[in-house]
Amino acid sequence: MAEPKENLQMEKIVSLCKRRGFVFQSSEIYGGLNGFWDYGPLGAELKRNVKELWWHAMTRQRDDVAGLEATIIMSPKIWEASGHVATFSDPMIDCKTCKGRFRADQTDEIACPQKPSKCVNECHGEKTEARAFNLMFQTYVGPTATAADIAYLRPETAQAIFAQFKNVLETSRQKVPFGIAQVGKAFRNEVTPRNFTFRSREFEQMELEFFIKPDEVIEAIHGSVATVPETGHPGEPQPNWGWQAWHHYWVEERVRFYEGIGLSRETLGFHHQTPAELAHYARACTDILFKFPFSKKDAAGNVIGDELEGIAARSDFDLSQHQRFSGKPMGVFDDELRAAWAKLPKEKQDDLWKRYYDHRKNYLTKSAKPDETPEQISQQATNDANGLAKGQYIPHVIEPSAGVDRLILALIANAYSEVTETDDKGKSETRVTMKFHPRVAPIKVAVLPLMKNKPEIVQKAEAVRALLRPWMNVFYDEAGSIGRRYARQDEAGTPFCVTIDFDTLGEKPELLDTVTLRYRDDGKQERLKISELLDFLLSKTR
Ligand code: GAP
Repeated sequence: MAEPKENLQMEKIVSLCKRRGFVFQSSEIYGGLNGFWDYGPLGAELKRNVKELWWHAMTRQRDDVAGLEATIIMSPKIWEASGHVATFSDPMIDCKTCKGRFRADQTDEIACPQKPSKCVNECHGEKTEARAFNLMFQTYVGPTATAADIAYLRPETAQAIFAQFKNVLETSRQKVPFGIAQVGKAFRNEVTPRNFTFRSREFEQMELEFFIKPDEVIEAIHGSVATVPETGHPGEPQPNWGWQAWHHYWVEERVRFYEGIGLSRETLGFHHQTPAELAHYARACTDILFKFPFSKKDAAGNVIGDELEGIAARSDFDLSQHQRFSGKPMGVFDDELRAAWAKLPKEKQDDLWKRYYDHRKNYLTKSAKPDETPEQISQQATNDANGLAKGQYIPHVIEPSAGVDRLILALIANAYSEVTETDDKGKSETRVTMKFHPRVAPIKVAVLPLMKNKPEIVQKAEAVRALLRPWMNVFYDEAGSIGRRYARQDEAGTPFCVTIDFDTLGEKPELLDTVTLRYRDDGKQERLKISELLDFLLSKTR
C-alpha cells in the first residue's frame, strides 16, 4: 500500500533532522528511549533562538511582565493543590492479545507492538477497561525513598509561577495587571508519545501567567468592563479591560509572535474549546494550531492543525488553590478599589458583592475538601466578597502556554522546501532548502572564502568572520566548490552567504572591500561593502 503523502513528508523531515543535526533520538546508540529527543548542533541553535525571542518579546520588551526561573522538582504539595496528583491522568487500556498499552481515546492511531502497524486495524485484540494513568514522573528526594519522600518532575512550568506569585509581586514592583514568564523543562509520562517530537515525555514550555483584576473589580473602579472587537488585535491594553478583552489580546499577541518568526496566519488554525472541553474553573481556552504534515483534515478536506499553544482564561482557580493548600494569603490589596468601592451606590455594591460571592462560592464548593461543610463554604465566600470593600481580591489569570519543541517542529515543517532538478543526462537531484525566518535560523550567515589556498582571501574571510561573530552565529566554510557550500547552507537554513573573492582584494579596484552576498531563498546575489555588512545582517536577523 502506498504511504500517505503526509507520512512521506514527515519521513523526509525526520530524516533531514538526523542527517543535518537538528534532532536525534535520545540514547540512540542503545536503541533509543521512546518519547525522548536530543537537539543536535543546528537544533540547539534553533531552539535557543526561539526561546530567546519569546523571552525578549514577553518580558524585556514589556513593562508589565517579570521573569522567573524555578526548580523542576518542587514540594509535592504544589501538585496536590494544582490538582495534578488527583486528576492529571490519561485513560489507558491494554490489548489482551498484543499486550500493547494505549490511550483509550486514541486506539485507532497507535502502533501495535506485535505488528508494526495499527492495533485496531490489524490486531483487533480484546481490550481491558480504561483506567486512569497519572502522567507525572515520580522520584524521591533524599536517600530513604519512602512514601514521604515522593516528589514529581514538574509536568508544567506554570505552578511555580503561582507558588512564587507573592515573592515576585513584592520584589518586582509590579501591580495587577502584570505577568510572570517562565521557560523550562516539563515532563509527562505520556502513554503514547508520537509524531516525532510533537508529543514527547520530556519537553520545554514557555508559559506566561498574566494576572488581571476580576471583572467585578474593574466594574467597581471603572463603572463597566470594556468590550473589544471580536476580530483583530485590540490594541494597547486599557485599564478597563476585563478577562475577555485580555484573553483576546493575548491570543492576538501570540499570533503576532508566530507571524514574526515566519509562521503565517494561513499555516495556523484556532480551536475554541467548547464548554464540555473546558476545565471546570476555566472560562475560555483558545488553542493556536499549526498545520503539521500529520494533522487531520475536516470533512471539507481542509487541514485542521494540531495544538501549538493554549491560551486559557483560568479565573482565580490557581491562586485560590495555593491559598487554601498552603494557608498563605494569595490575594492583593488595591487602593483604587477601596476608594472606588466607598463611592459606589448601595445597589451597585450589592450587585457586585453578590456576583463575587456567587463566583467564590461556586469555586469553593467544587474544590471543597471532604471535611468542609456548606456553612463553612458560605462563610468563606462571604469573607471573600466582604474583602472587596477593603480593596482585597484574588487576581484572575490569562495563561498563554506554548511548547518549545512543538514550535521547533512547526518551524522545521514550515521551512522544509525541496526542488528536484534533472540534468541533460537525465540524472535527477533533489535539493532541500530550509527556509527559516532569519530571526530563528540556526546560522545567520556563512562566510566563504572563494579559495582556501589563497592566503590573502583566507585572511580577509577570517577578518569578516571576526567582525560578525560577536553579534551572531557565523559558519565559516572553505571546503568544496562554492556551489556545494551554498547547497550545504541552504539545507541548514542559513539565510545569507558571504563570499570573499578576488574582487574583495581589489582586483577590480571599485570593488575593493566588498563581498558577494547571496540570498538563500531565491539565490540572488549582490555586492555589499564589508563596512555595511554588520548593519545589514543585524537588521535582517533581529
Ligand atoms: N500550564 C498549562 C499547560 O501546561 P498544556 O496544554 O497541557 O497546558 C501547554 O501544555 C503546551 O505545552 C501545549 O500547547 C504544547 O505545546 C506543550 N506540550 C504539552 N504536552 C506536550 C508533550 N507531551 N510534548 C511536547 N509538548 C507538549
